[in-house]
Amino acid sequence: MTAATFSQWMGDIQQRTESALDQALPDAEIVPARLHEAMRYAVLGGGKRVRPLLVHAAGQLTGAAPERLDRVACAIEMIHAYSLVHDDMPCMDDDVLRRGKPTVHVQYDDATALLVGDALQTQAFQHIADAAVSDDPQRQIAMIRQLAQATGSRGMCGGQAIDLASVGLQLSLAELEFMHIHKTGALIRASINLGVQCGRLLDDDEMASLDHVGKVIGLLFQIVDDILDTEADTATLGKTAGKDAANDKPTYVSLLGVTRARELAEEMCQDALDRLAAFGESSQRLAELTRFIVRRQF
Ligand code: IPE
Ligand code: IPE
Ligand code: MG
Ligand code: MG
Ligand code: MG
Repeated sequence: MTAATFSQWMGDIQQRTESALDQALPDAEIVPARLHEAMRYAVLGGGKRVRPLLVHAAGQLTGAAPERLDRVACAIEMIHAYSLVHDDMPCMDDDVLRRGKPTVHVQYDDATALLVGDALQTQAFQHIADAAVSDDPQRQIAMIRQLAQATGSRGMCGGQAIDLASVGLQLSLAELEFMHIHKTGALIRASINLGVQCGRLLDDDEMASLDHVGKVIGLLFQIVDDILDTEADTATLGKTAGKDAANDKPTYVSLLGVTRARELAEEMCQDALDRLAAFGESSQRLAELTRFIVRRQF
């Protein structure tokens, strides 16, 4: 399909995402300068950019224009960055390190961290509404609605609420899966669904199949995050290792052990790859990215 290797492609998308985010965020000199500086601190210069990579890989399935994919990718990455800023606050996971730097509430203060999250979330929706990401305005409204649903109480925020309510509890596998599918899975699933919709229309069966792929990748992403929390070190992760056990959080590792958790992630990866195979060459990047997500070291 293309001569570039996966790692070249990944570097290219990460680079274009960085510059698109740089342009999309207000300059640090604009009043209120401290808030704008903190927003840029939270978003720029770090992170794997997995969700933007998923948007671009999914867009290849439908021949979507890269500029449209950039717009969707930036909106989703802003929401993701906001979720990390709030996730790290003392009232949530109480973390001091993120992406190898002090967390926003440590570098600035709690009130600024709250406002950074609030402002990034609204900036994200402004950004995806600001220019066409579909030929069909009705579809664009539907896409924005899907992003709102994935982010809110029936999606990511709901998952975070369950996470906080589960401290010290042992959840069943079904409960844990529900939590992970929401707190992390919803935004990852939306990345694929929205990326696909930036291009030509697929039929309902194809959309349903890709939605399943998104659900599976979202779940396995958080299972791997749980594993890395126990197996990797702080320097590699750029965030405090061992935090789940320290905070008494139920995870796939605490419930099943590392070996079974890893097996499950590999099984889910295979499920996603089997589905993607039906899409032929156009799914190459998404298949490669799925393998990267399950085998990543940070
Ligand atoms: C971390 O996400 C938080 C989860 C949802 C598990 P990432 O592992 O994608 O974090 P960055 O963006 O690379 O920092
Ligand atoms: C975070 O999950 C999920 C969201 C931010 C929505 P974690 O709490 O496991 O993420 P890390 O490990 O702090 O990155
Ligand atoms: Mg958390
Ligand atoms: Mg956390
Ligand atoms: Mg984690």
